[in-house]
Amino acid sequence: MTTLTILPAGITTDVEAGTSLLQALINAGQQLVTQCGGKASCGACHLFVTQGRKGVSKLTPAENAKLDTLVGIGSKSRLACQVTVLGTEPVTVELLGALSG
Ligand code: FES
Repeated sequence: MTTLTILPAGITTDVEAGTSLLQALINAGQQLVTQCGGKASCGACHLFVTQGRKGVSKLTPAENAKLDTLVGIGSKSRLACQVTVLGTEPVTVELLGALSG
């Protein structure tokens, strides 16, 4: 179990180790509109992991390939559907675009 902080809403929630970040956001009441259902192909779940990057799973090749096609990515960019919360340290994410509304 670890703590997930969701910005810009400022929500803090407990997340079980092994939970996908996308599922954790949904569990926390975030309204997520994804078109691919978590297959790293729509890019709608793009967000920034601003703290606790060691508390989440590593970037996968499929995720990296999709991120390369998106506008506005940075070194903290992840696709929430491809990220597993490891439970080793608290994580802070910043929602963007489709996820922040
Ligand atoms: S839900 Fe489509 S890329 Fe993550």
